[in-house]
Amino acid sequence: MTSLAYLDQAADAYDCLAPYYDEFTHGYAHEEWIAAIEHRAIELGLVGQRALDIACGTGKSTAPLLTRGYSVVACDISSGMIREARRKFPARPDAFVVADMRDLPPLGEFDLVLCVDDALNYLLSEDELRDTFAGVAEAMSPAGVFVFDLNSLATYRSAFSEVMVREGEGLLFAWRGEGTALLAPGENAEATLEVFAERDDGLWERRTSRHVQRHHPPELVREALLEAGLECRAVAGQLPGAQLEDDADENRHIKLVYFAQHAA
Ligand SMILES: C[S@@+](CC[C@H](N)C(=O)[O-])C[C@H]1O[C@@H](n2cnc3c(N)ncnc32)[C@H](O)[C@@H]1O
Repeated sequence: MTSLAYLDQAADAYDCLAPYYDEFTHGYAHEEWIAAIEHRAIELGLVGQRALDIACGTGKSTAPLLTRGYSVVACDISSGMIREARRKFPARPDAFVVADMRDLPPLGEFDLVLCVDDALNYLLSEDELRDTFAGVAEAMSPAGVFVFDLNSLATYRSAFSEVMVREGEGLLFAWRGEGTALLAPGENAEATLEVFAERDDGLWERRTSRHVQRHHPPELVREALLEAGLECRAVAGQLPGAQLEDDADENRHIKLVYFAQHAA
């Protein structure tokens, strides 16, 4: 299926948010998070230093890979996010490309494929998940490890059904979760993020970024992986602050972090 067949609601949401994304996610512990992920991937047999960072955004998940010595290709559906990433990593403009993970172009062969921080939750059907996994399987080396996270039910029942306001320097973020504390497995959740940014002339500009995500139940994720020839080797539960635990729990952890490899 070509990406033209899909709605690009995520691209719209992140093109709008791109200049303010790093400020909005200020305080996220990506260094510690990627270190914990890499540690578990090595335990599962990760060898080699070729990494693909799918849905890289402004490069917050890419940076720890670069500092750890990986040779990285990174892609995202949002040209605005890729523009920010290229601005932040001027020595590596070619490393960042605009691409839809549901229809990945040939980008090379990789030992570690990463797709982190909610990205797969923007896929609103199992078909989209399957198409993405099929593309990832093609990009993985024979012993490659694919690591991705998905938001838990607990996250949709809390952050996606709450209101949050945060202030920064010349910035104000207003997050309005439109979900419910009773969200059922496999349902969609929506939220609106209003960004108010002070301009040079002292007036304030307002941008509205709409986020539609889907909760993907673990059993369906495992099935979709298998259909792509991939097998789930482990699922860790993530607590705030990048801490990973062995017993992934939809009702206690904020994210479930999956580790997959080619099926035997
Ligand atoms: C919350 S951001 C995470 C960015 C980065 N991985 C990080 O850890 O900061 C989610 C990203 O997923 C990207 N995304 C959503 N759907 C996508 C798709 N179909 N293909 C590629 N990227 C996608 C968005 O554009 C956005 O940059």
